[in-house]
Amino acid sequence: MKTGNFSGMALLVLLAGCMTPAAPDPDEVAAAVGRSTAAADLLFQRLSGELATALANGGPAAAVAICKDRAPAIAAEIQAASGIDIARTALRVRNQANAPDDWELATMNSFIARREAGEEWAGMSATRLEGRQLNWMRPIPLGGMCVTCHGDPASFTQDTRLALLQAYPDDQATGFRPGELRGAFTARAPLH
Ligand code: HEC
Repeated sequence: MKTGNFSGMALLVLLAGCMTPAAPDPDEVAAAVGRSTAAADLLFQRLSGELATALANGGPAAAVAICKDRAPAIAAEIQAASGIDIARTALRVRNQANAPDDWELATMNSFIARREAGEEWAGMSATRLEGRQLNWMRPIPLGGMCVTCHGDPASFTQDTRLALLQAYPDDQATGFRPGELRGAFTARAPLH
């Protein structure tokens, strides 16, 4: 008799749990993943393009200014045009404004664990739903040219070291080797 009552209660609790709130439409989620991916691709393309031009024209010290001013500006332009809040974050950041929240931090650690288990960076991503908002992340591995500003500081030009020190006195984003996780794209996309 007692067990019967208990099961009845458990069923009621389960049903109540199922009725609130409605699970989001998988198509809406897939579309938000697509829009987040496109926003990250665009940010990457535009930033890489401007960075390459600045490196060719003014050298790494001048290019530091491009990263500082243009990274947030391009992200803001993409958000205005697409409604996707897109940014870059990292476990060790150069700009504190890019510091991760708890979920972003845990997700980047899970990317590293997946890499150690044999998965490639390319093709990795993670999502979570917060009500009607999709949170999406994708790893950013360090490429060869990135060591100019994120590798061993002893290998930096004098000008680059100075430019970084002036703009980012609390810089944590050096000492990376090619192929390591430099950071991640992180997007917040409304479902619709
Ligand atoms: C010319 C120097 C320079 C080069 C080359 C460079 N970066 Fe950066 N990077 C910066 C600066 C400066 C910032 C800080 C931007 C800001 O203030 O938001 C930054 C920030 C970042 C961030 C955001 C997280 C943080 O630490 O604040 C990521 C991720 C990143 N860089 C990845 C890369 C990758 C990947 C490459 C190679 C494709 C690269 N960077 C090449 C200078 C550079």
